[in-house]
Amino acid sequence: MGVCTLTFVVLCSMVVFVVGGEEGLAASFIFGDSLVDAGNNNFLPTLARANFRPNGIDFEATAGEPTGRYTNGRTIADIVGELLGQANYAPPFLSPNTTGKAILYGVNYASGGGGILTQTGRIFINRLGLDVQADYFNITRHQIDDLIGKSKAKEFIMRKSIFSITIGSNDFLSNYLLPVISMVEKMSETPNDFVDHLINHFEGQLKRLYSLDARKFVIGNVGPIGCIPYQKTINQIEETECAGLPNKLALQYNSKLRDLLVQLNQELPGAKFVLANVYDLVMELITNHKKYVSMARQACCGHVGDDRFNFFGLVKRVAVMLETIDLTSSVKSIVALIMAYVLMLTCIFPPRQRPLIIVSPFPISFS
Ligand SMILES: *[C@@H]1O[C@H](CO)[C@@H](O)[C@H](O)[C@H]1NC(C)=O
Ligand SMILES: *[C@@H]1O[C@H](CO)[C@@H](O)[C@H](O)[C@H]1NC(C)=O
Repeated sequence: MGVCTLTFVVLCSMVVFVVGGEEGLAASFIFGDSLVDAGNNNFLPTLARANFRPNGIDFEATAGEPTGRYTNGRTIADIVGELLGQANYAPPFLSPNTTGKAILYGVNYASGGGGILTQTGRIFINRLGLDVQADYFNITRHQIDDLIGKSKAKEFIMRKSIFSITIGSNDFLSNYLLPVISMVEKMSETPNDFVDHLINHFEGQLKRLYSLDARKFVIGNVGPIGCIPYQKTINQIEETECAGLPNKLALQYNSKLRDLLVQLNQELPGAKFVLANVYDLVMELITNHKKYVSMARQACCGHVGDDRFNFFGLVKRVAVMLETIDLTSSVKSIVALIMAYVLMLTCIFPPRQRPLIIVSPFPISFS
């Protein structure tokens, strides 16, 4: 099989990198968007910010202070690092404290609003696209050479570091599918051409990281972005339905991404690309929510300041409801994160329609 696909990023990376690895993980290098931003945007003049309450209220490392993560607690990247035995969370690249030996735990380059394409996320005024994130990794790469010596550094990056990349949603939501702003692009590029353009650009970025010695990759695909309330609202469709074009684009991208990862696994010696199938996981929650626990209908934007609510979704509420269910805290946080994902970007424009919130303990086993 060319590419390991499980519905679940943590499981998948554990299977590949922990069960198979004898010496464990040293560093986690994290690339992506708001799903995994650990605070880079705090250091940018941008509209895409999360360093205010109630974000962070369940983040133990800061005793509930917001960090810039778009969630009540840890991001999925923090959780993966923890499950792989990391002592510290990878710190944000732009933090002045991310210097010296701190970078040997890994570094987080992710930025809310960022995408594969550099122009993605313009509406936020500022964000780090994946090209810039790779430039920054290049800087870190040289710093690691200086810290531990060239040959040790190569070994450290190749064998003991994991590269997770969670990106792509904004290239659709905050670029191609933006009303008005993207008119010019849409007229000059068919959906098919746009997806090819994204995949080609992403291929170049992955090869660039490979040339900097990255070998173990976990790549997230794009979720069912037509099911987020903001897309339902602008497409004026029923609450129970999902917008067709955004989901079609996501599926088209995901299918080409899978082919790309199969190809890169064959083409690049020593590289291991794992696909994290975000789409199917979130779709399962949306389609079969009745199988899981309970439902709530709340608008997210009207409740900023209320502790139960997060600007990007009812993350805290989800977490609270999950308290009653016997789950490990990792699973809870992941489910909460997925909920935040489903609701992601719904608040850029005030929703005319109440988002549908699904609360669910997804049946995941960590054994
Ligand atoms: C950097 O570390 C110092 C000392 O631990 C801390 O007081 C400060 O808040 C940190 N700065 C940032 C931006 O994290
Ligand atoms: C990394 O940075 C160096 C020095 O700035 C540059 O020469 C090199 O081309 C860069 N490599 C990649 C893969 O970006």
